[in-house]
Amino acid sequence: MGNSANKPELIIDGRRLDGRTPEQLRQIKITANPIRNAAGSAFIEWGNNKILAAVYGPREALPKHTQDPNRAVIKCRYTMAPFSSLEEHGRPGMNRRAIEISKVTREVFENVILTDLFPGNEISIFIEVLQSDGGTRAAGITCASVALAASGIPMRDMPFAVSVGKASDTLIIDMNKIEDNYSNADMPVAINPRTKEINLLQMDGELTPEEVHRGLEMIQKAGETITKIQREALKAPYEKVNEKYKASI
Ligand code: CDP
Repeated sequence: MGNSANKPELIIDGRRLDGRTPEQLRQIKITANPIRNAAGSAFIEWGNNKILAAVYGPREALPKHTQDPNRAVIKCRYTMAPFSSLEEHGRPGMNRRAIEISKVTREVFENVILTDLFPGNEISIFIEVLQSDGGTRAAGITCASVALAASGIPMRDMPFAVSVGKASDTLIIDMNKIEDNYSNADMPVAINPRTKEINLLQMDGELTPEEVHRGLEMIQKAGETITKIQREALKAPYEKVNEKYKASI
């Protein structure tokens, strides 16, 4: 969120700068398993974000001192490619922000992966942002969820994430970068859709308790769409096989 003196009006006649209504998500497209060498992978195009997630493991946790004799350890690395940002001073690779996003993403998946089935092992999640336009941590979590499901690693739920923000006193879902820069608040949230549990909640800026409540409702509603897109991505390869089979009989 920026505090520029010439702050643009983010909502005009009920529409956002990209034509969306306050409750409208950007276009989301997910492809499951684009990377052959990973146990599972996914590619997400979420508005102008393009993000790849790849999962490796379960495999012996190395170095050995990272092993937990009772469960698998989850390792997560979120990075932005050097060409992913328009910001002149955007710093690609691991920096404080990337370390923070890697940590919160790891915690989301520690809560859903059945880690006690794989003592001594590690499961690694790599999230590579190829093109960014606001909301990359949410899109990265949504994408990594599909990569994990595609790998067959057992999970109790398939999280999705999206953020809600506030601009011109209106709550808006799924902010893009301009909205993120000039909004009054940004609240990225990850949810386990089966139980509706909140798995991650961060907040930048200020929202009243009522706005947080209303924002969470908007996120749960948007989640119905996001979960559907995640599931369809997982089913798509099997549907192709099915079509081929039907054509052969
Ligand atoms: O991406 P997300 O909204 O989860 O995180 P953020 O720290 O609020 O960043 C918002 C947006 O700023 C990112 O999505 C990028 O588009 C942009 N950004 C960038 O271009 N270069 C950076 N080093 C950091 C952020």
